[in-house]
Amino acid sequence: MCGIVGAAAERSVSGVLLEGLRRLEYRGYDSAGMAVWSGAEIQRLRREGKVQALADAHDDTPLTGSTGIAHTRWATHGKPSERNAHPHMSGSAIAVVHNGIIENFEALKADLTSSGYAFSSDTDTEVIAHLLDRAMQTGLDLTQAVQQIVASLEGAFALGVMHRDKPGELVAARKGSPLVIGVGIGENFIASDQLALLPVTDRFMFLEEGDIALLTKDEIIVWDKVGEPAERAVSQYEHSVTSADKAGFKHYMLKEIYEQPAVTHAAFEDRIKDGLVDESAFGEQAAVIFDQVKQVQIIACGTSYHAGMIAKYWMEGLAGIPCHVEVASEYRYRPVVISEGTLFISISQSGETADTLAALRDVQDQILASLTICNVPASSLVRESDLNLMTNAGPEIGVASTKAFTTQLVGLLLTTLVLGRRFKLSQEKEREIVALLAQLPGLMEHAIKMDGSIEEMSQAFAEKNHSLFLGRGTLYPVAMEGALKLKEISYIHAEAYPAGELKHGPLALVDKDMPVVTVAPRNEMLDKLKANLQEVSARGGELFVFAGCSQEVQPGEGIHVLEMPEVPEVLEPIVYTVPLQLLSYHVAVLKGTDVDQPRNLAKSVTVE
Ligand code: G6P
Repeated sequence: MCGIVGAAAERSVSGVLLEGLRRLEYRGYDSAGMAVWSGAEIQRLRREGKVQALADAHDDTPLTGSTGIAHTRWATHGKPSERNAHPHMSGSAIAVVHNGIIENFEALKADLTSSGYAFSSDTDTEVIAHLLDRAMQTGLDLTQAVQQIVASLEGAFALGVMHRDKPGELVAARKGSPLVIGVGIGENFIASDQLALLPVTDRFMFLEEGDIALLTKDEIIVWDKVGEPAERAVSQYEHSVTSADKAGFKHYMLKEIYEQPAVTHAAFEDRIKDGLVDESAFGEQAAVIFDQVKQVQIIACGTSYHAGMIAKYWMEGLAGIPCHVEVASEYRYRPVVISEGTLFISISQSGETADTLAALRDVQDQILASLTICNVPASSLVRESDLNLMTNAGPEIGVASTKAFTTQLVGLLLTTLVLGRRFKLSQEKEREIVALLAQLPGLMEHAIKMDGSIEEMSQAFAEKNHSLFLGRGTLYPVAMEGALKLKEISYIHAEAYPAGELKHGPLALVDKDMPVVTVAPRNEMLDKLKANLQEVSARGGELFVFAGCSQEVQPGEGIHVLEMPEVPEVLEPIVYTVPLQLLSYHVAVLKGTDVDQPRNLAKSVTVE
């Protein structure tokens, strides 16, 4: 969702800006633009559609200059179009890129219009450019003007600003939306995330809420939210540059699916000590906080919410820990009752999801403590939580989350074990589960080896418009995740149901045009699930079953069975996710959709 790149350098920055935009494509966007200070003026280039369209336009009309800002826009206010693409300008003097939403933009626009400003877009962002112009007319310099006007902005924003008469200066501001500073040698940068800047630097400074920064090629000056000069530490990027590349795979999503044996291993390997989970991995205060936990509230969105749903089965089933799970966008807007001793767990691959972050901020004063399970160490959720567990999945570029999800599950299982000690989970049981974790990478590998058979199976879906996913127990959220993957990237309508609900509605939809996908490990729910499969079969529905044992679920007319490896029950949701990821991937490839950047979706949803 909206991406910002900016650079103040000695060299011409257009190439850095375009490469940065390409690297932000995964966040989701529908138009792109850039502005470069070149001598006496700011030159701007914008295009609806892909960054490639902007790059092609740039080939025809190159922008040359040593200071610039660029942006990928995911439309909120005003449809995707060139006139709504960023950067937005006030006259020819000020250029602004913005990520977030200015909630009071209508009032600000009315005020600016009455002061004589004319608007050339439908965006909320354009008010920022004109507000800056008006502030600078009173004699303020660019940084002072940004400091003044951000006080009047309601909502969330990350900003990059430049002015025709301030050569070499770039001003950045951040409140509620992510923005990092890349520290170079004789050049400095801003971006929505580190990935955008990896070709030019591996040293980063993270702005805090309300910070404003002035960048030139030689220096970075930061002021905090009350306008006091502030020091922000510079840290080194930890992953290799190539971990953010496709490594020979056709799509990032496929590469990320194939990385799961390694990253699920990385998610637990350093957290085990003497056969038990080492709770210091959650933070220094972990033991003191965990001792006081009476129940758990999990909050998340999208795929991360499905991870939370699985964790609820573990927390209550394995460990007897009362556990509630809710999507952040609902939780944050309803009156909630928070019981004493609540550990608030937010799950987020990006650590920047606006609703999840807002939910955490809203309850900070009422909870025992917060724990974030996250893939981005420097993210807002991590920085604002008492405890953290990193999922160690490495950069995930495909919008449809895969390895981030399965590593979240590993993190949640570890969390269940450390909390479970304080509830009904015996040390013996914990040892047993920890020992089983060692099998996980091999089982993930085995599931990935089914890729060829799943690719064949995918042909049955390419012409369909609807599909149903069924599961029971922890495999119900896995079915939900499978359905979400299919709709996200193949645009086929997919619904998931707990198999026991089949008779209460979805059975009415079952016919030969409605493929039914079922995850059916050999566990205690299998007999019940088999009865549900009979109900589908009897109505002419075509079944695709990922089964723990093909002797238990016999293939036949309209029943396709793919045999999964034998999986210990506690690991089933992690391993059974893999074939569903591969199925959606191959269906999307057959349909020719944009697998890594599906239409209308964003990787990091930093606005509501
Ligand atoms: C977007 C992404 C999903 C993700 C969801 C929550 O919708 O496309 O992949 O599951 O946001 O994001 P989070 O970063 O909080 O896990």
